[in-house]
Amino acid sequence: MKIILNFINLTKYHPFVLDNRISYNKHVEVIIEKLSNLGYGIAKNDGMIIFVEKACPKDKVKIKITKRTKNYAYAAIEEIIEPSPHRVKPFCPMFNACGACQLQFIDYDFQLDLKKQIVEDAIKHIGHLDIKINSPVKSPDKYRHKIQYPTAQTKVSKRLLAGYYKPKTHELVNIKHCLIQPPICNDIIDFIRQYANEYNISGYDEKTHSGDLKHIVIRNSAAYEENLVILVLNSNKITPKIKEFAQLIYNNFKEVTGVCVNFNPKKTNVILSDNTKCLAGKDFILEKLGDKIFKIGANTFFQVNPKSAENIFKYVKEYIANNFQNAQVLDAYAGITAFGIYVSDIAQKVVSVEENTQSCELAKESLEINKINNVEINNTDAEEFLKNETKKFDVIILDPPRKGCTKETLDNAARLCKKSIIYVSCNPATLARDLKYLTDKGAKIESIQPFDMFCHTYHIENVAVISYDQNNL
Ligand SMILES: C[S@@+](CC[C@H](N)C(=O)[O-])C[C@H]1O[C@@H](n2cnc3c(N)ncnc32)[C@H](O)[C@@H]1O
Repeated sequence: MKIILNFINLTKYHPFVLDNRISYNKHVEVIIEKLSNLGYGIAKNDGMIIFVEKACPKDKVKIKITKRTKNYAYAAIEEIIEPSPHRVKPFCPMFNACGACQLQFIDYDFQLDLKKQIVEDAIKHIGHLDIKINSPVKSPDKYRHKIQYPTAQTKVSKRLLAGYYKPKTHELVNIKHCLIQPPICNDIIDFIRQYANEYNISGYDEKTHSGDLKHIVIRNSAAYEENLVILVLNSNKITPKIKEFAQLIYNNFKEVTGVCVNFNPKKTNVILSDNTKCLAGKDFILEKLGDKIFKIGANTFFQVNPKSAENIFKYVKEYIANNFQNAQVLDAYAGITAFGIYVSDIAQKVVSVEENTQSCELAKESLEINKINNVEINNTDAEEFLKNETKKFDVIILDPPRKGCTKETLDNAARLCKKSIIYVSCNPATLARDLKYLTDKGAKIESIQPFDMFCHTYHIENVAVISYDQNNL
């Protein structure tokens, strides 16, 4: 939270002037200047920053202030006086109701310009670094190969609903045809909607924490006709009706290669618990990137956009191939060792570190499938591993969760790295913070390359290449 507020405060607009003339419910005319890191249009009025919902840079709009804090305000558009030339008609008819694709009303090329600017702002204002940001690499695919729909049910007929929440609410929008996911996933979810009633399986009510089915999760392979369906249950038990229902889904689709249940009876925002059981077929899907095959399970991390992920893997592999011979590579925060396996044929040895046990088990099975024998998998905490390791690596790949790395982890990565750290990040703010920390301690940032992994949202993935001089050897 702190880092996000910093990000907002540290735009070029600070210092903020507290202006009592902009009050709650006041209407003002503004021109939208840029996009915030959370996808709001940013406008200024009498020195105050206003975050405007669903606004595109270069829009001239009449806005209504909906909320104001000490230093900034939020607003909704009342009237578009002059639309930005980058506004387009959203291709999805559910755009206004659904909160999943915030930027769909902006043309795709301009979305990429805006995401680049978000990265530039973070690097400049949080990282205090003057580094050129490359243009983002476009997503080659429609992208969403992991679907996570919460469920609910209609009040009277008790029909199952599944979809995304309306923006900033937990009000469910029943999504029949999501256009950024493979059509087979829409068909599977529709089938579940239709037959859940017959099997007496109810949707979830968040307020009363009641109902059988909390979420429907699907992992879809971009390379093979394979789908793993995970029914997230509000209980710890498999009832006969759930068993039959899982079998029904499995039998009905040749593209469904497995149906699992995940037991998640806690009142929590976490979608999947650690406890998954396969009820029909197999508990993983196969994916192929380049010439490598990967096993992906219900509880393992894998990028939601495999084609865009492949662009990142290629980029990292090319960097290693161009700069090292027989490199020793550490793949930290490895998931199913996607980077490690992808680069294994140009490395002398890869050591991967990942805390999730299922990811490590599937990574070992992927090594067998690909007949790879120079990758060592360590199922442990990356921070502990880095702290205790003494052997140095030519390249360290760091791909941490959104919160980034601790200072201690960065210190240990710098200590263990002979030449390069490749930092892969889905959060420009924590990336900027961590790059500042590393450069303050002597590292050099070679490049920052954004990749559009999450089209039509304000999210952006980045690969930063960080190098050390020969003294680090
Ligand atoms: C952003 S994902 C990257 C996964 C992988 N590099 C990929 O591209 O598919 C982060 C991974 O770090 C793992 N992780 C999170 N904290 C960890 C820790 N302290 N030690 C080891 N792994 C961790 C998560 O389980 C997850 O698989």
